[in-house]
Amino acid sequence: MNLRSLGTAPKVGLALVRSDLNVPLEDGKIRDDTRIRASLPTVETLRARGAAVVLMSHLGRPKGNIEDGLSLGPVAQRLSQLLSTDVRFAQGLPTSAAAQAEVKRLAPGDVLLLDNLRFDPRETKDDPGFAAELARFGDIFVEDAFGAVHRAHASTHAISAIMPSYAGLLVEREVQALDRLMHGSEQPFVLILGGAKIADKIGVIEHLAQQAQEVLIGGALGNTFLEARGVPIGRSLAESGELDVARGLMRRFQGRFHLPIDVVATRAITDPGHPVNVEEVGEDEMIVDIGPATQAAYRDIVLGARRVFWNGPLGLYERAAFAEGTLAIARAVAQCEGYTVVGGGDSAAALAAAGVADRVGHVSTGGGASLEFLEGRVLPGIEGLLEN
Ligand code: 3PG
Repeated sequence: MNLRSLGTAPKVGLALVRSDLNVPLEDGKIRDDTRIRASLPTVETLRARGAAVVLMSHLGRPKGNIEDGLSLGPVAQRLSQLLSTDVRFAQGLPTSAAAQAEVKRLAPGDVLLLDNLRFDPRETKDDPGFAAELARFGDIFVEDAFGAVHRAHASTHAISAIMPSYAGLLVEREVQALDRLMHGSEQPFVLILGGAKIADKIGVIEHLAQQAQEVLIGGALGNTFLEARGVPIGRSLAESGELDVARGLMRRFQGRFHLPIDVVATRAITDPGHPVNVEEVGEDEMIVDIGPATQAAYRDIVLGARRVFWNGPLGLYERAAFAEGTLAIARAVAQCEGYTVVGGGDSAAALAAAGVADRVGHVSTGGGASLEFLEGRVLPGIEGLLEN
């Protein structure tokens, strides 16, 4: 995929940059600043070229009005620390008169962060009027919000039709990594899919299972596939309305799907749980992790792979007692000598918890975006960055 890169952009006085600074907040404190750090190289590059930078992002899902708990204020503070400069912050509506005045005051090298784009209802409607108001904040537009390129919103999509637009360094790196994964020829290619929703994974399975030799399934997604195969899953979390979809996929890609052969089952998530053969889950139990035999089997497959894509936890990862399956997969992916790509917040967190985040080929900052990219579609936030 050939993107108009930042390196080809003219030197300008004012650059408008869309980043994905949608970070997890707890009591106003940033729990994980990975996305903020990932946005820095583009901002630094533009500043080094003498541009003032207007940064914009969404945070959470406000319903088109100002919600104090979803202001980007804490992110501006973190950016100031990381950039060792005083990042200005225009609180409130992103294109208010006050924000416009702040932009006018910027000098070369300054950075201004606008507040949550979704405070304005026109953002998620891909409104060209809102995009035009934002476009006044830059001589060029730099799309660096890889985590949001699957959204057709004013700041990710409409805007690139009305001003010169370039891919930021993060978007470029993500696209290169996913392209390499998707179009590589190394075999075997292994997909590891967990998490909850089958709908999020169907497109990827349909697009990649043709070339992937093995599809390893776990998590609540695994429960749905087990139920579709007629295995009793007790009170496990599953999407019982999607059994036909799961059966259809297993029929179409026969012999490629691997489901857990043993699991950790428990009556209550506050109990420690116990490993059982997958056929022996009690009526009053739920599956909360893959078992040791499944971990070993999946590990062998992953170690023999030449290309791996992993998205989604294999169990109830947020509870330490049920994190082992996901951590085992994280370690196996890190040990695999092939090209490995990991997407999704929980999978990335598991890599970090296992201390192996630097031992995979690429960790995507976009969970949903990387999945949709791997469906083989040109995403709305990428469309306007393509070289003719
Ligand atoms: C994400 O966290 O996946 C991105 O920031 C996109 O957020 P959204 O799902 O609210 O559009």
